[in-house]
Amino acid sequence: MQAFFIVGGAGFIGSHFVERLLTDKNTSRVTIYDNMSSGRDWHFASQRGDDRFSAIRGDAKDLTKLTAAMGGHDAVIHLASNPDISKARSKPDIDFYEGTLLTHQVIEAMRLSGAKTILYASGSGVYGDLGETEAREGDAIGRPISTYGASKTAGEALISRDQERLRDASSHPSTAEILDHGHDGVADRLTRGPSRAPAEGSDVVS
Ligand SMILES: NC(=O)c1ccc[n+]([C@@H]2O[C@H](COP(=O)([O-])OP(=O)(O)OC[C@H]3O[C@@H](n4cnc5c(N)ncnc54)[C@H](O)[C@@H]3O)[C@@H](O)[C@H]2O)c1
Repeated sequence: MQAFFIVGGAGFIGSHFVERLLTDKNTSRVTIYDNMSSGRDWHFASQRGDDRFSAIRGDAKDLTKLTAAMGGHDAVIHLASNPDISKARSKPDIDFYEGTLLTHQVIEAMRLSGAKTILYASGSGVYGDLGETEAREGDAIGRPISTYGASKTAGEALISRDQERLRDASSHPSTAEILDHGHDGVADRLTRGPSRAPAEGSDVVS
């Protein structure tokens, strides 16, 4: 039986995770933790009747609340980030505070609460501008051209570093050893689909 904690679970992708996880009899619990900045109540309205499901309104920047809410869960799915890439034009630090910092907070809450598995939603912004070339998982990352891409790159790096800490610190399996979702074990890199919550710009800020 597994208990899942979804940071940013009230959003577009989170709602699909919630639905899918609750169809599995091996799921003991699904908790979403969301500040509702772009999340919507109706995304999980039909799951409210399932007593394995609960929703907590909170900001991932609130470490005390995040850690307390995360306690007792095995796996963390981290989806919270600024959804509007173009916002960096008017607010240049948005992807630091609503991106990189959030990932740091999630990792820190995992350390404090004892959760060992993370699935992180990275993004194709980590590749930078490849022109017409199609990105592949094995392509080099680290030359993002948006602050959103930079924060996703930083998030992958922070999680990789945390795997090393877990490996060194204990006999518990690390996040990468448990999780089989990401191609490199730490992250699934997503490209923007048509159904994403409204955003003014594209994946790229020029
Ligand atoms: N949907 C796509 O096409 C796509 C593409 C590339 C990457 N991604 C990544 O996948 C993840 C999920 O995407 P989505 O489309 O579901 O986005 P979304 O905006 O619908 O969901 C993100 C959720 O995080 C919550 N959130 C944001 N800041 C928070 C904070 N400080 N504390 C707590 N909750 C917070 C929002 O309220 C929202 O419910 C994001 O990290 C996004 O960058 C998505």
